[in-house]
Amino acid sequence: MTRLLQIDASPRGERSHTRRLSREFVEHLQVADPGTEVVHRDIGRQPLPHVTEDWIAAAFTPPDQRDDSMHKSLQLSDELVDELLAADLIVLGIPFYNFGMPSGFKAWIDQIVRVGRTFDFDPEDVESPYTPLVTGKRVIAIISRGDGGYGPGGRNEVHNHLDGHLRTVLGFIGLTDVTIVAAENDEFGGTRLADSLEAARTELRQLVVESTQVGCA
Ligand SMILES: Cc1cc2nc3c(=O)[nH]c(=O)nc-3n(C[C@H](O)[C@H](O)[C@H](O)COP(=O)(O)O)c2cc1C
Repeated sequence: MTRLLQIDASPRGERSHTRRLSREFVEHLQVADPGTEVVHRDIGRQPLPHVTEDWIAAAFTPPDQRDDSMHKSLQLSDELVDELLAADLIVLGIPFYNFGMPSGFKAWIDQIVRVGRTFDFDPEDVESPYTPLVTGKRVIAIISRGDGGYGPGGRNEVHNHLDGHLRTVLGFIGLTDVTIVAAENDEFGGTRLADSLEAARTELRQLVVESTQVGCA
């Protein structure tokens, strides 16, 4: 059985490619493994709050020294971290905005990168002060972009600030098994978009097969 966390970050509904592709992926996985348990967070339609001064003060206070208001400040963040820790497979639908991740998705990242919960910090350890705490999980990130050529060797590769940022921040908390599947050309439509979506679907179908084969599902 797979415990799957699905995060959709597009504010768009039916017009969203990432939302459609993530839904199809999850549906296919559920067919391959009917026991798949899905927790769905629609952060595109129900945006998460950004972190606040109270949140930061609470997050960097040791748990046994937090007062009630600090616990309250971290309540949603704790819930989001619990969801992440409970999952074996994390499926992220992320629109590409202004050369990087959309602010709504960054808000989720800021809520789940938590000292003592998803990474540890030891100031005495000069060589390696940070220890990732989220291990043994797979991430499939489904991205859609309006323009094309953001992949390796493409004309826009240098402007792709999403893939690297995503791998860095997820890796920081221990999520190093990250597969990125991208569709492009939303702005052009026609066969350029259709071909790109079909290529993404083919990759995702293969990932369903792999996920079930490696015992992930
Ligand atoms: C605010 C905003 C910024 C965008 N910035 C870019 C960009 O920098 N590069 C690009 O190729 N497409 C850009 N796009 C196009 C989106 O990446 C594209 O529409 C994508 O399909 C959105 O994901 P979705 O279909 O899941 O909503 C932008 C779209 C919006 C609404």
